Parts: sequence; C-alpha cells; structure tokens
Amino acid sequence: MGLTDLGAALLRTLDPETAHRLAIRALQVTPLPAPAADDPILRTRVAGLDLPNPVGLAAGLDKNGEALHGLARLGFGFVECGSVTPLAQPGNPKPRLFRLYEDRAIINRMGFNNAGLEAFADRLAHRPRTAVIGANLGANKDTEDKAADYVKGLIRLKGLADYVTVNVSSPNTPGLRALQGRAALDDLLGRLAEARGDDPTPVFLKIAPDLTPDEIALIAEASLDHGLDALIVSNTTLDRPDSLRSAHRGEAGGLSGAPLKTRAGDALRAAADASAGRLPLIAVGGIESADDAWARIRAGASAIQVYSALIYEGPGLVSRIKSGLTDRLRTEGFSTLAEAVGTGR
Ligand code: FNR
Repeated sequence: MGLTDLGAALLRTLDPETAHRLAIRALQVTPLPAPAADDPILRTRVAGLDLPNPVGLAAGLDKNGEALHGLARLGFGFVECGSVTPLAQPGNPKPRLFRLYEDRAIINRMGFNNAGLEAFADRLAHRPRTAVIGANLGANKDTEDKAADYVKGLIRLKGLADYVTVNVSSPNTPGLRALQGRAALDDLLGRLAEARGDDPTPVFLKIAPDLTPDEIALIAEASLDHGLDALIVSNTTLDRPDSLRSAHRGEAGGLSGAPLKTRAGDALRAAADASAGRLPLIAVGGIESADDAWARIRAGASAIQVYSALIYEGPGLVSRIKSGLTDRLRTEGFSTLAEAVGTGR
C-alpha cells in the first residue's frame, strides 16, 4: 500500500464529506512526485484529444477545480473538474453523501454545491499544462432556462479547458434530466453550437444510465446533428438494485460504484450500437478494475473514468488499471489501446 493509499484508508474512517474536504486539501498541499511516463501502448484518442492513457477522473470529485495540480500527479490520462454552475450555490442540506461499504457503492444528492463559474475560471486559468483537463458544466437549481446556464459556462470557459462536458444527467437538480428529451436537447445543443462558433474545443455530453436504448439512440442522433464530439456514459442511477445490502440503500440520490456496473455497461453498448463508430464514447460507472475497463473499451469506449472505486481503493487504483490494461493489450497482440476500442462488439 502506497502512502496515498494509506491516506485514503484513513480518510475512510471519517464522515464522507469531511473526508472529501481533507482529500482535496491533501491534494493541494502534498508535494507529489510527477507520475512515471505511461507505456506508449496505453495511448488513446478521443475527439482529437491525445491521451497518454485511457483512465480519467470523473466529474464531481474536484467540483471547483481546486486540486488540479495534485490530481494531475496521480497518473490519470485526463481529469474532469466540475460540475460548475454559473452562480455559486450551497447544494442540498447535509447529510447528502453516503458510503454503502457492503455494496462498494456511494449514494449522493449533493445538488451541485460549488463556488460558481468565476472562481472556477480563475482556477482553470492556473491549471497544470502537463495534463488533459476537462470542465463539466451544470445548471443552477433556481434557473428557469437551464440551457442558458450551459451557454454561460461554455462562453466563460473558452480557451481554459481541453474539453467541456455538458452534464444533463445529474439526478439531483430538478428538471435537469428532462434536457435529455429530443426537443429540449435540440434546443440546448443548438444554442450551444451557436455559442461555440468555430472554437475547436471538443464538447461532450454526459448522459444518464436510466434511459432506454431508443432514448439513447435519439440522443446519439441529436448529438451528431449538432456537432457534439463525444458522449460520456454514464452518470449515477436512480435505480436501487435488490442486491443492495447497506443501511443507506434507501437514501435519495444517485447511486454509483459496483452496483451501477451492469446498467452503465448496458447504456454504453446501446450508445455504441446507435453511434456505430460515428461518435467517440467515454465509459464511466462501476469501473473498479482493469477487467471492467477492458470490457468497456472492447464494447466501444475510447477512454474510461472512475470515481467511486477510488474512494474504496485509493489512488493506487489508477496504476493497477493501467498495468492490467497494458498486460491485456500485449497478450492479445494490440500495438496501442486505440486499436482495441470496439473490438468486442
Ligand atoms: C458524482 N458525479 C458527478 N457527475 C457529474 O457530471 N457532475 C458532478 O458534479 C458529479 N458529482 C458527483 C458527486 C459524487 C459524490 C459522486 C459519487 C458522483 C458522477 C460521477 O462523475 C460518475 O459519473 C458516477 O459516479 C459513476 O461513476 P463511478 O462512481 O461508479 O465510478
């Protein structure tokens, strides 16, 4: 167990939000060494972004972009910060973050607590240049015209991030997931395309796992029509599988971690079927090992992201997934990870 994993083990003894705050603080102040260079076999490409490895940090851990320098040193191929909303907001009342230990899962109903777009833009202006950084956009709880909030985010962050994610799939902001319907999505994506103009920064759309294959197919078509660059599949689920054993299983909010694995994998396959290679995919949801990552890559994901498993496993998870993927690529005769994308379909 490395020092950072030991730290992660200690943090698990604290209440989840205190642990989260301390982890961000530790990442800000601990002088971590630069990560070892990645084996070139792990290289992949998403919407024109060259990633040194396919293992990304999912949004929600660094909502304010406060710990990007520390996070960039944990060996991720890319780091997504946010969700950020135009105005600072406190989020939902506490408690709102629950660890389901027995299920290797988390339920959260944070509700986009964040310091707002101006503070976020300042942080991104001082971001590390050595890592690929994504900025994830949300909408304020009290905003009537939610699409306008994404447009504000996109405009304010121009030139500051390597990619931008439009998050229409958080279950904790009333009305947000309704933006995944075709008419609302056409309106949102049309306005975003206009705001984007000829800015080359790729824009991704992050979707929920609680959609039918037909709904996912509609989203993929709308995304292609409006020139989006990739889909991130998926956010947390409102589903509560019967398998859940932890005391907190009845809490409201989005469920992530191991019990999300099947549903997020199914949503990814639906997106891969619908987009048939026309739209790059990033897989997230219940990925906790190299096997999980490999299965998603073979199913069509060009890269993957993790969040919940990091809480249970510590940051050593990133290297474990990378070395497991390296072994599989060599064993199966691929010369780069990019070649393996979608080969299991
Ligand atoms: C999240 N997630 C999330 N996603 C997003 O797009 N914006 C956000 O602000 C957040 N916030 C957030 C907070 C907490 C506490 C958790 C656990 C998750 C969702 C996250 O990025 C990811 O999509 C899911 O957690 C599924 O992946 P894992 O956790 O199963 O690897």
